[in-house]
Amino acid sequence: MPYNKSDTLSNQTPNTKPSHEMWGGRFTESPDLVMQAINASVSYDKRLWRHDIEGSKAHAIMLEACKIISKQDLQDILFGLEQITREIEIGEFVFKPSLEDVHMNIESRLKEIIGEPAGRLHTARSRNDQVATDTRLWLRDATDNTIGLIISLQKMLLSKAQEYVDAVMPGFTHLQTAQPVTFGHHLMAYYEMLERDKNRFIDSRKRLNECPLGAAALAGTPYPTDRFTTSDLLGFASPMRNSLDAVSSRDFALEFMANAAICVGHLSRFAEEIVIWMTPQFNFITLSDKWTTGSSIMPQKKNPDAAELIRAKTGRMNGNLISLLTVLKGLPLAYSKDMQEDKEPLFDTVDNLELVLTAFLGMLTDLKAQKENMLKAANSGFAVATDLADWLVQNLNIPFREAHHITGALVKLAEDKQLTLPQLSLTDMQQICGEITKAVYAVITPEYSVNSRQSYGGTAVECVKQQIAERKLSLSQ
Ligand code: ARG
Repeated sequence: MPYNKSDTLSNQTPNTKPSHEMWGGRFTESPDLVMQAINASVSYDKRLWRHDIEGSKAHAIMLEACKIISKQDLQDILFGLEQITREIEIGEFVFKPSLEDVHMNIESRLKEIIGEPAGRLHTARSRNDQVATDTRLWLRDATDNTIGLIISLQKMLLSKAQEYVDAVMPGFTHLQTAQPVTFGHHLMAYYEMLERDKNRFIDSRKRLNECPLGAAALAGTPYPTDRFTTSDLLGFASPMRNSLDAVSSRDFALEFMANAAICVGHLSRFAEEIVIWMTPQFNFITLSDKWTTGSSIMPQKKNPDAAELIRAKTGRMNGNLISLLTVLKGLPLAYSKDMQEDKEPLFDTVDNLELVLTAFLGMLTDLKAQKENMLKAANSGFAVATDLADWLVQNLNIPFREAHHITGALVKLAEDKQLTLPQLSLTDMQQICGEITKAVYAVITPEYSVNSRQSYGGTAVECVKQQIAERKLSLSQ
C-alpha cells in the first residue's frame, strides 16, 4: 500500500478531523499513514468480497428470522448487498485503504446506499468471526477447485499409463539403473501419490466446514441468535462449538497449506524426472514447443522450463506453510491482529497450486515417450542382473547370496568385454558358473523381467492393467 514517507510521523500535521468512520466515538485522531500501511489488508483481502457478502446475507436472514432486525431492515440490507455485488463485478466499487479491510469497505458502502439499516447488520457479530467465516468459505471453494484439478490430472495419468502400459524402461534406485519397469507402471506411481493428496484435501475440507459466524468478538452474544440457521444457510456442517476457538483458529488454513506443500512436493519429483528424461543423454520423452523454451544464445536448446518452475514452486509452498505456522505459534486466545497475516501466504499457496496443477496437466497431455530409447536403456546398464541371480536360485538351487556373487562376477566379465549380459556366450558364463545352461537367456531380457514381476502392485503388464482398471473404476465412483 503506497504512502508518502514525508507525510508520516513527525512531519505530519496533527489531524483533528473526525477520526474514524467505524470507531470515531472513541478516537479523536486519524491513524498515522504508516499505521494505515501496516494495518490495512484491503489490498489483498478484497478477494474475499463475494464470500463476505454471502456471509452478511446469511447473518441478516438469521437476524430477521430471530426477530432481532425487522423485515424492512433485512430487505434493505439484501438490496444494498446486491447493488454492491454488481458494483464490484463491473469494477466500479472503490476499495479504500483508509477503511482497512474488505469487511469495513463493504459495510461502509452499504451505509451509503441504504443508510441506517446498514448499522444493524453488525448486530451479534464482529469482524473476528466474520473474517474467519469468509476465509473458510473462500478456502472451501478453493479446496473444491483443487480437488477437481487433481482429478483432471489423475485422468490424464490413467490415459497415458494405458498408452504406455507395455513400454519398457529402466527403473532406477539411487538414479542408477536397477530393474526394468514399464512407463505405465511409473506413471501410475504418481497416480497413487495424487490419490493420497486428493484425499488429504477431502479430509481437511471436513474440518474446515464448520461455521464461526455468530461467535462474535470472542465470547458469543447476548442476542437470541440461531447459529445453526446461519451455518445451514452457508452450507456448513454445523456451527463451531466454542466461540473462542471459532475466532482464533487458523489450522484449517495450515492444513490446506500443508496438503499443498506435500502435493507440490510430489509433483516436483515428477517434474525433476521430466527434466532428466528430456536431456539428450536420456532422451526418454519429448515435449512440444508449447511446453518448452529456447535459449537466446544456444540454438540447439529446448528447455523444460515449466517442469523446472513446478520443481521450484516447492520453495514458496513450504515457505508459506512455515510462515503461517510461525505467525500462529504462541498466540494467546482469542483473536489477535497477527492473524491477518494468514491471507497472503494462503492466497499465494492456493494460486500457485492451481497454476502448478494446470501446467502439469498441459505438460503431461503434451508428453510423448520415446519407447525405443527407453527399451534401449533397459537393455543396457545390466538391468536384468537380478533376473539372472533369481534364475540361479530357482534353477540351480544356489542360495541367493551366492547367486548374487556369481552374477556380480558375470556383470564384471561383461563389463570388461564391453558386452551386455545376454551378449555373453554360454562358454563365458560357464567359466564363472559351470552349471549355467542356455535356458538362462530366456529370462535375461527386459520384457521377461517385467512380466515376471506379477506380485501384487508389481510392474508386469497384466498387473499394471489391473491397477489402471481398478483406479478407473474408483475414479468414476
Ligand atoms: N482484517 C482483519 C483480519 O484479517 C479482520 C479482523 C479484524 N478484527 C479486529 N478486531 N481488528 O484479521
